[in-house]
Parts: sequence; structure tokens; C-alpha cells
Amino acid sequence: MNSIKLNLGALAGFVDGNALLNYKEDVVRCQKMLHDGSGKGSDFLGWLNLPNEINEAQLSDLEATAAKLKAICEVVVVVGIGGSYLGTKAVCEALANSFDWLQTERKNPVLLYAGQNIGEDYTAELVELLKTKSFGIVVISKSGTTTEPALAFRILKELLESKVGKAAASERIVAITDEKRGALRTLATQEGYKTFVIPDNVGGRFSVLTPVGLLPIAVAGFDIRALVKGAVDMLQFVSEDVPYEQNIAAQYAAARNLLYQGGKKIEILLNYNPKLHYVSEWWKQLYGESEGKDNLGIFPASVDNTSDLHSMGQWIQEGERTIFETVISITEANATVVVPVDAENLDGLNFLAGKRVGEVNKKAEQGTRLAHIDGGVPNIAIELPKLNEYYLGQLIYFFEKACGISGYLLGVNPFDQPGVEAYKKNMFALLEKPGFEAETAALKARL
Ligand code: PA5
Repeated sequence: MNSIKLNLGALAGFVDGNALLNYKEDVVRCQKMLHDGSGKGSDFLGWLNLPNEINEAQLSDLEATAAKLKAICEVVVVVGIGGSYLGTKAVCEALANSFDWLQTERKNPVLLYAGQNIGEDYTAELVELLKTKSFGIVVISKSGTTTEPALAFRILKELLESKVGKAAASERIVAITDEKRGALRTLATQEGYKTFVIPDNVGGRFSVLTPVGLLPIAVAGFDIRALVKGAVDMLQFVSEDVPYEQNIAAQYAAARNLLYQGGKKIEILLNYNPKLHYVSEWWKQLYGESEGKDNLGIFPASVDNTSDLHSMGQWIQEGERTIFETVISITEANATVVVPVDAENLDGLNFLAGKRVGEVNKKAEQGTRLAHIDGGVPNIAIELPKLNEYYLGQLIYFFEKACGISGYLLGVNPFDQPGVEAYKKNMFALLEKPGFEAETAALKARL
């Protein structure tokens, strides 16, 4: 069984040689807190053993529901925000053909997203497009009360019902929400939608391996069994029984916290494959919402190279030295493109003739890594043999486990997000939602 690898070799010179070893006791203690449920937020540890608990009946139900949607929909709209859509988007964008939406001969519906913003133009354009398509909806909200997806769902539900009728619409809508609570549960029960449950003890940003991610990923035509298998294997690779020195989740959590203590306040997740853009977005949510609290926390940022070497590259090379970088490195591309020979060589590129584009990319990656280290940027590398469902499953669980340990090392509750309420309170007050009258006047006076 191949595992993704963590390479901390380039930290020499930034983190004292013994520091990682000396940190062992703290890291092992924090990992134990996760496993024995003695840490903060222990009501939300359902993700820890989740991959092992996914059973054949659940997978078959998900695949059958996906097959039903696939048979009748050209487009499936995933309605959700934050943890309710980022995992799906991360996996699907990583695995899909980059020009998938342009393909006319399709085996699977196009996945589109709604409720992840309140952009009026975006909503109008989506509605216009859906008027011309046969579509279905997977609406996802753990709380069942989040404004953005609720608003988008109201609009899309009405559109679907007006196109195909109420009865047929309810056959094309699947709701993923809490087992009992929330407006979405009430609505789904009332309308007779097929539903899946988000377990109580799994928070949104840790939910990609529940139906939240697995259903839409299956709808898009990807192998959810391989994804889950990757997570199951990683669960073993980073289990409590694996010694600290070989436990890559513990080592990553340790390294980033040591760097933070040494003044590196920003972690940049880097990739050299544009398909990984949304993996970074998912990772930013996972770490940002888990750690950014109590006036603490590494700021998670990301760049897509080599594109961003021509924008953020200057800052990373020579800006304030408060950053470190974590590179997701893919050993082998799935496709092959060889640089052709050109007899005239007017562009002077014949020195590359016969090489794969991936080799050029790899040299850019290696050259950048060395330049950044020389420029004072500590470098952590996470190496995936290939980009496929299995290794993405490994990567997801690896980052989740490391995030839990890392949050406890930092001393915060990694499983809540109290700060997210502040904007909601103000938005509701400004929209004059009943119950917010006192705040409305005060906020309006400040605008
Ligand atoms: O990680 C989290 O808990 C959040 O980002 C949620 O996923 C996000 O706020 C959406 O919440 P809900 O699924 O309740 O609509």
C-alpha cells in the first residue's frame, strides 16, 4: 500500500534539529486527547473513525441515488456553503477534465454550485442557464438554517417546480441535513424528498466523507469507494499506535506549530497543478475555521504555481519573512505531453524538445523550492504519487487528523466557529429579521 509522504527535510536551518523530537510529548498528548475525547469540542469527533464506519449499505444507497439523478439530469446543482460544498468541489475539480463543462458527449451530469455566495448576477445567470437544462438539486445544510443555501434553494426549487411540476421536482431533489432538526429537515419531510443524514458529531468542514461529499462526488461520476479506501488506509497510517516519528499527521501538526512559535504566522499551501485550486480552498476552510480563534492561529493562504509565481512569487521570495509554505507535490502526471522539436527553433526552446511538460513543471517546482528556502521560507512537502480518488482520500483524512492535533497544540477548540456568528447577527439586523430589532437601529446609525 502506497502512502502519501511528508517531507520535512527542508526545515533544517529553520527549526532546531531537536525541536521536533522535543515536541513529541505535547503532540502525543494532543493526539491522545482526540482519541479519548478529553479535549475541547469532543462532541464533534465523529470524523475521527468515520472512514471505518462507512458500510456497504450506505455506499450502495449513495450510488443508487446518484445513478437516479444521473439518469434524469444534465445538470445537478449542489446547494451549500463552507463545509457543505468545498470538499465536493475540491475532489471534483481535482479529478475532472479541466474542460469538462465544454464536453458534449457526457456520461455524467455537470455539477454546478449555488448558495455558496449571494451574488445576484451569479444567481440570475444560473437561473437563466437552468431554464434551458434538465436539472436536479442536492441541497446540503447541516444546521438547515444557513441563509445563503436556504435562499438559493428557495429560488431553484421554485424554478424546478415551475418547469417539471411539484411531484417530478421532488424526485429530482435530495436533501442532506441533520436527522431531526432545522428548517431543511422539516421542508424535506413535508415535500417527501430523499434525504441523507449528516451525523451530529461531524462538523461541516470535516464532513466531506459523509453523504455531504460522497453523494455529489458520485453524481459527478467519481469512485467514492476508492476515495473512502484512501481515507481508511490513511486512518491506519496515522493511527495512535503509529510512533510519533513515523506518524505524518502528528509530524505535520508539530512542524507547523513550531514554525508558528518561531514567528511564521502565515502558511501558504502551494501546488503545481491547477486542478488542486479547490483542494487549497477546502484546506483553508479546514484550518482557518478550526484554528483562527482566541486571537491565535496560523493564517492559511494558498497559491497555484507556476501561475502565481508571476503574481505572488515576488512577495513570497522577498516580502516579510513571516511565512512558511507547504507544497502539495504530485509525483506523476496522469497524461503525457511531450515538447516537440522545431527545426527553426525561433523561440529557442529546442533545449526542452523531447521532455515531458511535467518534467518542466517539476524543475520549476524544485527550482522554486530552493529559491524560497534561500529566501528564508521554510518548506514542508506533501507528496502524492498520483492524482486520483485513492490518494485524495488519503490526503483528506491526513489533513483532518493533523488539524485536530494542531488545534489542540495551539490550545483552541478546533471544532467550533463562534466568530462566524458576528456577520450573521449584523446581516439579520440590517435585513430587519424579526427578533433583531434592537440591533437594527444601532447598526443602521453606523452605516
Ligand atoms: O465547518 C462548518 O461547520 C461551516 O463552515 C459550515 O459547513 C457552513 O457554515 C455551512 O453550514 P450548514 O451546513 O449548517 O449550512
